[in-house]
Amino acid sequence: MFEEAQYFAPVSQTVGGVVVELAQSDPGFGDPVYRARRNDIAALTLGHAREQPVPVVEYTALEDALWAHVSKELSPKHQKYAVEEFLQGTERLGLPAHRIPQLQEVSEALEPLTGFRYLPAAGLVPLREFYEVLADGYFHSTQYIRHISMPFYTPEPDVIHEVIGHANMLASDRFARLYRLAGEAARRVQTQSALEFISKIFWFTLEFGVMKESGELRAYGAGILSSCGEIEKFRTMHIRPLDLRAMGTFQYDITKYQELLFCADSVEHLENVVGTFWAECDDDSIARLEAA
Ligand SMILES: [Fe+2]
Repeated sequence: MFEEAQYFAPVSQTVGGVVVELAQSDPGFGDPVYRARRNDIAALTLGHAREQPVPVVEYTALEDALWAHVSKELSPKHQKYAVEEFLQGTERLGLPAHRIPQLQEVSEALEPLTGFRYLPAAGLVPLREFYEVLADGYFHSTQYIRHISMPFYTPEPDVIHEVIGHANMLASDRFARLYRLAGEAARRVQTQSALEFISKIFWFTLEFGVMKESGELRAYGAGILSSCGEIEKFRTMHIRPLDLRAMGTFQYDITKYQELLFCADSVEHLENVVGTFWAECDDDSIARLEAA
């Protein structure tokens, strides 16, 4: 799915300006126009403070067309493979299909529904910061879009993943509550190891979770539902029931499709197992689970 060392390309500030260091394997690596674009978008956001308005990105007609192309591909796949709770989120949110929405616009649509707002991210947001602000209803998001040469692939979470994957989930009261609980759990723990345990459970649920619904296996995770390839493959993966210890300690490889997925019996089951865990966990309970 995402390339390990470059899950987010490093962003650096130099005398010449802001530079996003793309991996050689990024489809846009050899395209100077794309690289300049990535630098410009990162420069808009670097140093952004939460109280400031989200910077506006003037998307080009090509970038809007790329969004429209991927949206059109994903929409029928959602009808076929996404859980009902996600589909209801897409209806409530009503994202534009033909152009990339501004993050400010996404926030204005989401906030009346579930209180969530988007914060812009130039690149990698430290794990603790990313999770902790979920408790306050903030979701960090990149603003750039993938390279046009590979419309159905991105080595990193771009605006398609962040908005089509996550915002549609965050438009659901039940999913939004789980994001907040993950944030509260992150805020409660002190150790890096406990924080990583919480983030891995997030990975296997809100990013790559699958669920039984109407006798079928369906997906609810943003990573699957924003990937035109992965959404066609998840039913063929190795599926296990929800298991906190297994999810929290598994060493996954983000460079490939997730071959091991964890299945909830229903949204209620997810809330009971994972929501309750995030609501109650602390450093000690996580250490006990890790040692079990
Ligand atoms: Fe994500």
